[in-house]
Amino acid sequence: MTETTPTGLRIDTGGDQFPVSGAAPRLSWLPVPDAARGYELLAHVDDVPLPTTTTTGHRLNAWPWHPLTSGRRVRWRVRAAGGGWSDEHAFEVGLLDADWSAEWISPVALAAADSDVFGKRPGHSLRRIFPVSRPVRHARLYSTALGVYEAFVNGERVGTAELSPGTTSYDKTVYAQAADVAGSLVAGDNTVELVLTDGWYQGQVGAFHARAAWTDGDDIAARAELHLTFDDGSTEIVRTDASWTSWTSQIVRAGLMDGQAIDLTVEEVELGPARVDVVAAPPISWSPAPPVRRVEERSPTSLTRLDSGDWIADFGQNASGWVRLDDLGPRGSRTVIEHGEHLDPVGDLDMSHLDSEREGDGLVVLDQRDEVVSDGAASSVFEPRHTVHGFQYARIRRGDLPLSPADVTMQVVNTDLAPAGAFRCSDDDLNRLYEIADWSFRGNAVDIPTDCPQRERIGWTGDYQVFVSTAVRLFDVHGFTRKWLQSVRDDQLDDGRIANFSPDGRQVKRHPELQVAQMTGSAGWGDAIVHVPWVLYETYGDRDELGTNWRAMQRWVDWALTTARTRRHPSRIERSAEPLPHEEFLWDGSFHWGEWCEPKERAEDGTLVDPLQANPMAWFMEDKGEVGTAYLFRSTSTLARIAAVLGRDADAARYATLAEQVGDAWRIEFLADDGRTAKDTQAAHVRALSFGLVPEALRDAAAARLVELVRRAGTHLGTGFLSTADLLPTLVATGHTDVAYELLFQRTSPSWLGMLDRGATTIWEDWDGVDEDGRAFASLNHYSKGAVVRFLHTHLLGLDQAPGSVAWESFVLRPVPGGGVTWAEGHYVTPQGTIEATWRIEDGTITVTGTVPAGTTGTVVLPDGTATVVSAGAFRLTGAV
Ligand code: BGC
Repeated sequence: MTETTPTGLRIDTGGDQFPVSGAAPRLSWLPVPDAARGYELLAHVDDVPLPTTTTTGHRLNAWPWHPLTSGRRVRWRVRAAGGGWSDEHAFEVGLLDADWSAEWISPVALAAADSDVFGKRPGHSLRRIFPVSRPVRHARLYSTALGVYEAFVNGERVGTAELSPGTTSYDKTVYAQAADVAGSLVAGDNTVELVLTDGWYQGQVGAFHARAAWTDGDDIAARAELHLTFDDGSTEIVRTDASWTSWTSQIVRAGLMDGQAIDLTVEEVELGPARVDVVAAPPISWSPAPPVRRVEERSPTSLTRLDSGDWIADFGQNASGWVRLDDLGPRGSRTVIEHGEHLDPVGDLDMSHLDSEREGDGLVVLDQRDEVVSDGAASSVFEPRHTVHGFQYARIRRGDLPLSPADVTMQVVNTDLAPAGAFRCSDDDLNRLYEIADWSFRGNAVDIPTDCPQRERIGWTGDYQVFVSTAVRLFDVHGFTRKWLQSVRDDQLDDGRIANFSPDGRQVKRHPELQVAQMTGSAGWGDAIVHVPWVLYETYGDRDELGTNWRAMQRWVDWALTTARTRRHPSRIERSAEPLPHEEFLWDGSFHWGEWCEPKERAEDGTLVDPLQANPMAWFMEDKGEVGTAYLFRSTSTLARIAAVLGRDADAARYATLAEQVGDAWRIEFLADDGRTAKDTQAAHVRALSFGLVPEALRDAAAARLVELVRRAGTHLGTGFLSTADLLPTLVATGHTDVAYELLFQRTSPSWLGMLDRGATTIWEDWDGVDEDGRAFASLNHYSKGAVVRFLHTHLLGLDQAPGSVAWESFVLRPVPGGGVTWAEGHYVTPQGTIEATWRIEDGTITVTGTVPAGTTGTVVLPDGTATVVSAGAFRLTGAV
């Protein structure tokens, strides 16, 4: 291989043991220098060569040959015209929907016990015995489920993916998995088994544990085909159908929220033939995302026995996953494992901060509880692979049985995302902050981006809208995010509204009577459908994804514009019976979550007051038009830019004009002549400045007011979900770098480092997630406020894309030193290759070094303002600080 040989070949889809595609995967690789004459592509399909073809780009190239068909095995390579051929990249095509001949099978329905609750029901096993009489050359199991399933061939677990087939909007999308099972087959009789539980399909949704609404029926189902190719070239397919049998399972109950119980002493019994086609299922698709896996194993940092006899295992890190137990004790011994994020003053597990309460629902207690009854076999291990928990601590109850730390491990389970960025600097607190934000994202990247891995674990749109531009700095989230966007589109309401969370297990689009339906369509949440694809386009150059989401984003923005025009907030109706002319562009007359989770005010007795709990009606009715209109401006402006990228010139012009009108309306209503926003909060000023709503002439004044508000709060931040990520960049952009660093290094609450001081290992939902007395509130693993770590990349290290650049074709490295930090280093894996950067200050001189990948140019701007263009290769620059 020469330097001009392309590397990093990949397709844009998921897969477990090997990449698995649909009919037309897109092809990418890292560019090589001097590829001006384009690239040549060579491919073999099932060892048959395809005609060589050419392409100019290296990124997300449309499949250049005829669409592929089911099961094809593809090898391909690429070279720059005149250069050397790359190594081969191989992938397989899944079993495409039209080629599935298997039936959906369901377990024999067990008589429902009164206590049966969805998400707490027993598991089922579906089996088939089949003979193998000739040597097998090739075996592929294609499988999926409505529920969560594991597949086994002759008792061996298939693949390494967990919680398959993942969470999707099951009325429209379900993904299948493909695995090579040749190694598990034997001559003679073989057993294929699918173990099936409620999962996301029939489990509980959200804080109030509502039953999922994907189906009115009680069933779960699985579908599988085992394709065998023998040495003699003949083939056979073993498919799910009425010849499969339904068995009980040792899984006594399983659900993603409440945990899993297994009784290994129970003998599994055959119940009769599986039922066929009793569910309505969507077509089979192949996921663009990497699978969920067990990505790390952690031993307890301590294992303590309480007076009660219970054990508390501390794993030193809040994460998503489960506990594996290697010693189950003598036959009949029961071990109960509960999972939580916090300990009370005596060191016992305290999960009460994760309970939820709402009028009409009463108190919903969170209980992440696994149980195992031992069969006494030395080889038995407990691993609850039909559930997942958010926890740092486990309370283990097993009577007088001893427990050794060597027998307890935390299995960290999340989507197996490839790391994309790294950051370190001379300040250990900032390094730790970066780490806990990274852990928070991982803990909330379990097949979809969730809000928290315990209380709700649903894909709230607002949370990812806020975090996606940070997520792209931490991991390659391209496929993961495209998968989630499919759900967001699937869940869109007929009127254009975007569901609060996706996959929307409540199916608000079919249940307008639900209370959550009236709270659907919020600024900052639904706007994810515009912002998230835009970030994918900017980061990965995925123009197709803009096209895929275009209709959905347009319908959302059109709904918001119509709502602005037709509905008014009561306070404005009171002001004038007839709307003022600009009001048609104020989005104030429908429900908004608002800034959400700003630092809480204190009551006279010193306790913190939650505005929603304190007075739900007042909170609900509050005028949130400032937030609504600002987001309407940003989404309409972004839509105009997207239209331009897609060559929809008329739409681009129309939305650009509308954006101006919305911006004008926002200024008339919410901006005073002195640069203050009507809602005189830090959040409102940050939003106004970072969204470009404040005219140039008033920016200094608006920023000065922001600083004043920060100072009035004793140099504390006052932002919540929506604007925390933009606070520090806005301060730097308006010339207040010193204030930005003072806030970053603030230690008293509310602050980021204050979280560290109170022991946070992930980012908290509330600024006071653990108060000064050590009591916990709300979730201790919510990533939104951790979006600040993007600032560490873009400002402290100083690495960002150049304005207007796409897919990192050009970047700016502009270190913004501050807070006494003397060096920073990091890298970022871009579609062009990896950019490395380091800076160090010594004796009043800053030295900036790094490497630039081929096909990228950068501008390094030193603190003294000197700008230098750098291109492929290493660079080193120095200047005064
Ligand atoms: C969730 C959030 C979500 C919010 C809606 C909360 O209960 O945990 O993260 O975005 O509700 O405002």
